[in-house]
Formats: sequence, structure tokens, C-alpha cells
Amino acid sequence: MNAINPISDNQRYARCIESSKRVRWDLDADVIRGRRFDTAHKFLPDGLSLVDAFTTLSDEEKRFVSQIQGRTYANVFGLVERFINAKVLELSRTHWLGDQVALEALVRFSDEELKHQALFRRIETMIGDVLPQGYRFDIDPDAVARVVLGKSTWAVLALTLDIELFTQLHYRQSIEPDAELSDLFKDVFLHHWKEESQHAILDELEWVRHDAGLTPEERDRAVDEFIELVAAVDGILQAQAKADAGYFAAACGRTMGETEPPAIDAAFLKAYRWQYIHSGARHPHFGKVLSSLVTEEQGHRINAALATLQ
Ligand SMILES: [Fe+2]
Ligand SMILES: [Fe+2]
Repeated sequence: MNAINPISDNQRYARCIESSKRVRWDLDADVIRGRRFDTAHKFLPDGLSLVDAFTTLSDEEKRFVSQIQGRTYANVFGLVERFINAKVLELSRTHWLGDQVALEALVRFSDEELKHQALFRRIETMIGDVLPQGYRFDIDPDAVARVVLGKSTWAVLALTLDIELFTQLHYRQSIEPDAELSDLFKDVFLHHWKEESQHAILDELEWVRHDAGLTPEERDRAVDEFIELVAAVDGILQAQAKADAGYFAAACGRTMGETEPPAIDAAFLKAYRWQYIHSGARHPHFGKVLSSLVTEEQGHRINAALATLQ
């Protein structure tokens, strides 16, 4: 299953370039368009924020939860795109003196990811302008990237494909009919998805190509490293769920009973694990590519690790 067909792969890189040129957007002219966020709207769709899990909250409080999660969405993407872009630049080296079509596809990928980081920084600031004081996101993207990039390329590409596939599902959730959802945030999902669709194809091409050069022992170690990376992502999500639940409690304007704060913390974590781990790991295409690269036992090992994050 690891055999690479150079003709069709070359065409796939070329198609990614064509699509990248066709869908290319400008941060201000196409996405922001002079708009501001309005707290009368939800920022994340219900299918991502999992508002139904926040059983003790009023509709207004659930809307606030979606806005907090929207701000965290901007921060998490700003963070993951830091290591994704660094890995793409590193991978591009293998094409410097070879396939110039593949090189161009990866250069465009990197350029887009830099633009996406700028987009998410911008909307993070814009959301900060309309939400109450006190929100915190204390995780440094460079520090996380250093840890992630310390793992094998196979493991980083597995995590990257997971992430870039879930942006497609997030876009689909955002187009579910919901008159209360922010048009500006819907445009963020739409434009991000347009460029991420090519990235997911390139992740797969690079992952399969890289995999073909590994020994079974190297791949087996990489499987464990992928599991370690998912656990590291989960550690970030646990910390942020706690921070966001604390911010919600401080800013929601009412006193809570003893049992409510832990339930809200758990609901944030459930939503974040869905958004940033399972919506990609359960994507059929992720399963298909992964199972073409690993043994049955390695697949079970990964699934067992993912099953602990419920
Ligand atoms: Fe992106
Ligand atoms: Fe991407």
C-alpha cells in the first residue's frame, strides 16, 4: 500500500497548485470586510461547541460559551499552524533540487498557513474587543512547536492530517442552517476550509512519501510518538478547558452552586476534544490513510489511546 505512483502524485501536487490559485483570498478584502464581531451572535456552531452538554446554562449563557470557544478556536489554530508551517518548510527541502511542482505546492501551503495565523491573530484581537475582560490563553505557540517538532516527521504528519481534515468538518458544521451564527465567523470557516482542502491532500502525499522510507521499527516508534503528541494536545485542551470554565464563571454574572463549575469544565473539555482531536481522528479519510500505513496492532494501539480521551 506504500507504493507511490509518480505520475499521479505529480498530478495531485499540480492540482493543489491550481486550486490554491483559484481559491486564494485576502484577509481584509474577502474575510473581514470591515466587519466587527457582535455578541448577539454565536461564534461557533452548536455542532462544534456542543452546547447541549452545558445542561445548566440559559440560552444566553450558552451563546457566551460559544463566544469563549470561538476565541479559543482562534488561539488553538494560531498555535497548531505554527508547527504545521515549520514542518512544511522542513519537508520542502526534500524537493528543493527535485520535483519543482511539489516544491511550489508546499511553498504555497506555507504561505497560506502564515496568512491563516495572521487571520486567527486578527480575529482573536477582534473577539477580545467585544468580550468581557479576564480571558486567558497562556500557551506559547513556539514552545509547543519545539516539543512537537522534536517528534518524528511521521508522527507530526499524522497529527497534521488529523487537524487539516477536521477543518473540513468544521466548515460543514458552520453551514448548517442557524440564523444566530455570526456571519463573520462563518466566513472564517469558509475561507479557511477553501485553502485547507489542498493542505490535507499535500499532508497525505508527504506522509505516504515519507512513510515509504521508514523501517518497520522506525514506524513503530513513530506510532508511539503520534500517541504522545495526541496526549500533549489533550494536555493543552485540559488546561484551556479549565481556564475557559473559570473565565465563564467569573464573567457570567451569577453565582454557581458547588456542582456546576466541574460540570462546565467537563463540558468545555468534551467540546475541545471533539473539535481538536476526534473530529479529525474519526474522519473516514484519516482512518483510511492511517490504516494503509500501519499494522492492525498499531491501529489498535492508536484507537485504544484515543478511546481514553472521552
Ligand atoms: Fe490553516
Ligand atoms: Fe493548513
